Amino acid sequence: MKTLRDIDLTGKKVLVRVDFNVPMNENGEITDDLRIRTVLPTLQYLVAQKARVILCTHMGRPKGQRVEKYSLAPIAAYIANLLGQPVPLAPDCIGPEVATLVGGLRDGELLMLENLRFHPQEEKNDPEFSKQLAAVADVYVNDAFAVSHRAHASVVGVTAFVKEKAAGFLLQKEMEYFHRAFDNPQRPLVAIVGGAKVSGKLEALQNMLARVDRMIIGGAMANTFLKSLGYDVGASKVENDLLDKATDLLTQARAKKVKVYLPVDVIAADRFAPEAVCKQVTIQDIPENWMALDIGPASVICFNEVLADAKTIVWNGPMGAFEMDAFARGTMALAHTVAASHALSVTGGGDSNAAITLSGEADNISYMSTGGGAFLMLMEGKELPGIMALT
Ligand code: 3PG
Repeated sequence: MKTLRDIDLTGKKVLVRVDFNVPMNENGEITDDLRIRTVLPTLQYLVAQKARVILCTHMGRPKGQRVEKYSLAPIAAYIANLLGQPVPLAPDCIGPEVATLVGGLRDGELLMLENLRFHPQEEKNDPEFSKQLAAVADVYVNDAFAVSHRAHASVVGVTAFVKEKAAGFLLQKEMEYFHRAFDNPQRPLVAIVGGAKVSGKLEALQNMLARVDRMIIGGAMANTFLKSLGYDVGASKVENDLLDKATDLLTQARAKKVKVYLPVDVIAADRFAPEAVCKQVTIQDIPENWMALDIGPASVICFNEVLADAKTIVWNGPMGAFEMDAFARGTMALAHTVAASHALSVTGGGDSNAAITLSGEADNISYMSTGGGAFLMLMEGKELPGIMALT
């Protein structure tokens, strides 16, 4: 796989696929700019090399239609501010107007194309659309790790129509950290897995059993495992159709000598709401009609112990409904533990990153991946189509 430094970029028109699909509030303000900030080294390098930079990204899921709330105007303004130079927004991502704007770019200047997903052909990996995207560029750079699990036109199709292609610095960094944490880890390697559902993470759990030494399972997905072991978890969220699968995973873990740690206590609440009545109970004592919404303090002590001598930690998914203050303690406590550890710590997924940012520990994690689905796909042991297309 070629990287930016392998290519002569001076005066070249460089189409850079980024993933600026960032969360925004109802006023259209960016609430987390990790995916933008982390691409700055690539953009600054391209500008310094006097490339003519054409940025392209998707935003949201507009389903192939032009939807104004998904216009990239605020993103272009934001990036212009960070870079300290203009980043005009083209009215579309393909077509004659784009060709004219690209033709007018001078060395070291940038242009942002409008949302790729305003065209249904993007998600269909349509060859004609891919060709049109490539038509304006001499070089294609993928610096969009977070969307590299999607075989879309701007990620995969386009690579067939460009003369030169390379990985950007962010993509390179993401792969290097993942490789260090997963393929070539210092041991013990401890995985922390949480979040709402077992179903979305089945393959990842399965694959991790072959790689990790210990696994901590928290969040709502722990309820399914606890129920499969015979605990009565009250009205907690459970995937009843996956109880056998959960038992099976625990059996496999034992066979592979991977130790799995589940919560021993939880914060139970009488409803899923910030003002719910809640209490700390052992997993034997969850009241009928109450639900477990966070891990309890005894679980935190236990998990801290599991993490104490870890040399590598991979974390995906929160320990509870941390967006509500009453159920954030468990996730916050683990964020502090991971941050203070001497392990190489790699986290991925929007919720985990948001929780770590909330804890104030973002600077103390070795690497926060910008990927959600892409990170999970690597955890599943699969190749990303966007990376394959570059090699
Ligand atoms: C993400 O946010 O995970 C990426 O931007 C991909 O978005 P998608 O799930 O809508 O394809």
